[in-house]
Parts: sequence; structure tokens; C-alpha cells
Amino acid sequence: MRKEDQYVRQAEEWTERQYADAHAYLAHRAELIASLGRDLESDDEVLDLACGDGGLGELLLERDLRYRGVDVTAEMVEEATRRLGGRAAVELGDLNDYTPPEPVAATTIFRAIYYARDRAAFFRHAATYTEKKLVFDLNPRQYRLDAVVADLRGAGFGRIVLRPFFVPQTVALPASVAAVAKALEHTGPLARLALRFRFTYLVVASP
Ligand SMILES: C[S@@+](CC[C@H](N)C(=O)[O-])C[C@H]1O[C@@H](n2cnc3c(N)ncnc32)[C@H](O)[C@@H]1O
Repeated sequence: MRKEDQYVRQAEEWTERQYADAHAYLAHRAELIASLGRDLESDDEVLDLACGDGGLGELLLERDLRYRGVDVTAEMVEEATRRLGGRAAVELGDLNDYTPPEPVAATTIFRAIYYARDRAAFFRHAATYTEKKLVFDLNPRQYRLDAVVADLRGAGFGRIVLRPFFVPQTVALPASVAAVAKALEHTGPLARLALRFRFTYLVVASP
């Protein structure tokens, strides 16, 4: 079985089952996508590669952004289409070679950067259609940050922001604790210490 085949069975209610507090988690993700690096403006289009069932799309649409979701699993595309109705474009496609019909303001890829067959080639391809920023999450215990940054620079993404992301995926936090977790994202050495054991970076790369 290919690793990707697991998603055929998991497509139904992916977002609701994967995220303990889907709204809080994805709202924080959407806020950072919009605000880190170059600002996104109303009506800017976000291309979400490996979009799953489009859960992130709801939160980006709420911010008056346009959303285009692409996933290689037909069942995920069906779920995303059901979720987002006529409010967004959702397509079947492989992130390695997909090209949007028009350049997009931002390209995102969450929990899926490991599906890039050749990471440097993927960054170079994304740079051809991404105007403001490429955004993805990265586990620093799995990838060498300096190697990823070098690949981004090689593709022409010269401005790179690394932001710790401390809202947990599998635990729903009371609002007051979530606020502390978000504040800790700005704490430099303390944040880097936490990242040695858990959590991910949000990587925002602009040309
Ligand atoms: C862990 S899920 C992440 C879904 C969503 N981005 C999220 O953060 O909840 C990985 C997704 O990547 C998709 N995927 C795997 N390989 C892909 C590829 N080569 N091109 C596009 N999507 C792919 C799977 O179908 C699945 O929906």
C-alpha cells in the first residue's frame, strides 16, 4: 500500500477527527498565514496543496481570502468540495507538478512537505506561481532547518521567517492556556528549547 492510500479511509470528517479543537487550531494557522512575512490582502488567493478535506479553507475564506485546494486523494477532494461548496475551487492534483491557472498570492502546504519527491525542485516549481509567500510547517526533529532554508534560497525565496507554532493538534486548550501557548511562540530561546522535544515551525518564505 502506498503511504498516501491511508487517506482514502480517513477522508470523512478528517478535520474534525484530526484536530481536538479544529477551529482554534486552524484559526491560528490562518492568522499566521495572513500576517507573517508579506501581508495578505482581501481577495488574495491562497493555493493550499495537499488540502485534505479543506478545513483550513473555511478559516481563510472567513478572512476574505480566496481559496484553491488541491489534493491527490479523490476522497479528500470530494470532502473538501462538500465542505466548501461553491465558495472555493477544489481540484485533484499532485503537489509535485500542479500549476494553478493564474499565479497565486500565497501557496501553503501543511503536514505534507514530505510528499515533495525532490524538495528543492518542488520549491523551484512553487516559486514560478507564488507571488507573496510559500508557507508550510516543518518538524525540526525530522528535517535540518539549514538544509531547508538553503533549498528555499536556491529557489529564489530570499526572505524567510521561522515561527514556532505552539497550539497543539491533539489537545483542546482552554482559551487562557491557548493565549499563553501563543505568547510563548515569541520567546526565542525558550521556544527553541520546546521545539527540541515537540511542536513544529511555521516557515514563511517570500521572493
Ligand atoms: C496529513 S494530511 C494533511 C491534510 C491537511 N493539509 C491538514 O493539514 O490537515 C496529508 C494530505 O496530503 C495529501 N497528499 C499526499 N501526497 C500528495 C501529493 N503528492 N500531492 C497532493 N496531495 C498529497 C493526502 O491525500 C492528504 O490529504
